[in-house]
Amino acid sequence: MKKRLTISGLALGVTLLGVGFSTTFAADETLRSLAEKNGIYIGAILNSQWFGGGLPGNYEQIHKTQFNIVVAENEMKFDATEPSENRFSYGNGDKMVKYAKQNGMRIRGHALAWHSQVPNWVNNYKNDKKKLLSVLKNHINNVVGHWKGQVDEWDVVNEAISNNEPQWRGYSVWYQGIGPEFIDSAFVWAHAADPDAELCYNDYNLEQGVNPKAKAGFLLEQVKRWVANGIPIHCVGSQTHVEDTTTDKHFIGSPDSLRSLARELAKLNIKLKITELDIGFKSGINVSQSDLERQGKTFREYLDIILEEPNADTYLIWGVSDKWSWLGGLNRQKGLIYDDNLKPKPAFDSIMVRLQNFEPPQDTAATDTTANDTTVTDTTKKDTTVQDTSIAIPQTAGPGSVTMHVAGHTLFITGMKSAKVDVFDMQGRPVFSGKCEKGAVDLNVAEGLYMVRVREGSRNLVQKIAIK
Ligand code: XIL
Repeated sequence: MKKRLTISGLALGVTLLGVGFSTTFAADETLRSLAEKNGIYIGAILNSQWFGGGLPGNYEQIHKTQFNIVVAENEMKFDATEPSENRFSYGNGDKMVKYAKQNGMRIRGHALAWHSQVPNWVNNYKNDKKKLLSVLKNHINNVVGHWKGQVDEWDVVNEAISNNEPQWRGYSVWYQGIGPEFIDSAFVWAHAADPDAELCYNDYNLEQGVNPKAKAGFLLEQVKRWVANGIPIHCVGSQTHVEDTTTDKHFIGSPDSLRSLARELAKLNIKLKITELDIGFKSGINVSQSDLERQGKTFREYLDIILEEPNADTYLIWGVSDKWSWLGGLNRQKGLIYDDNLKPKPAFDSIMVRLQNFEPPQDTAATDTTANDTTVTDTTKKDTTVQDTSIAIPQTAGPGSVTMHVAGHTLFITGMKSAKVDVFDMQGRPVFSGKCEKGAVDLNVAEGLYMVRVREGSRNLVQKIAIK
């Protein structure tokens, strides 16, 4: 408690670009640099004010310094990208893609099939199943196709499950007009439009337990079915819009419950991502320093899932500063990690400290820097000593194993037919991207140490290599 207070005080006093300079945080340490050290993505939305150019300059500076993954708050949704039938509008999305590339960030696309923010013209076809299917297919083909190879992952289906009795959400033009098969179809179409994109199902209230009566339990049954039927789904996004525990007596979610979901998904080789995190207080109440510190602890507990679970890699916050947040509409406040003046809150410190102190795994690949290392590694650099071994990701063992090694500038891969290869420098900046179709690919990079990620569908392997 005392330590955190000290850090916050210093961070508030001498903050530059959102980085608290104190004896604890070195000047070059940011959320981003520490996340990269731990092999995870940390991000925040670019909000609609940013797209309108209406934010102070240091907002963008903070955003690109602190985060390495980005998603648009509203600008890639259906109503933004296809405001009238078959007339597509990509200006804002392109702006974000350009920004992300300039700053070496991963890009999430959000969202393709959702009941909300659907333009009115779609409702004209609500009684015409065939037409609605072609509307959705055309939308997905065009939007995913437009950003093929640029948007790394998509929320293909968003919020399709109802809140109460877990079942499909009834009030959705897609569900009412097509039936639940709109979901399976959306994944198949998205995969066809960009076979390299990671495809997620995204929803809220997934931190409320994995039992048949809870949303996560219902979802898990669907994921099992999708996997069994070969539907191309690779990840579940947990929005994680939660309320501070003491201000909501109905609050029943917890980081532990979300961790259970991650572990169930691992058995299916599906990733869990936290995609829209905010931890708000009820509007109108006074929020004290100790409330903010408790909030920081909760932010840290959700981060632990991403650091510790081998199939979890992304921690995305639904906003940067409390000043520009959607939470007011939800009757909540102060749910983010920077305050109204873009100063870091105790939650920022809590995340920083955890990222600093997390012990990276004793992973052979992460420590071996020899050029011809042929060690087969896990897909992440996570500490598996805290894991239940039953959740190991299947492709890392047995006949389906993937291996890679490098000789000179050539990377050799076994166990994948057509792998997407991404090479990052040790600061996490992308330096090479290409395909490996015949077991080998020439890496056009200078001598040095790099992290390589090879990916085919939902299987991936990350390994450190040395080019000599
Ligand atoms: C919200 C945006 O933040 C608001 O600006 C907009 O008015 C409504 O949508 N779940 C989602 C997000 O998947 O797209 C929502 O974003 C928040 C809840």
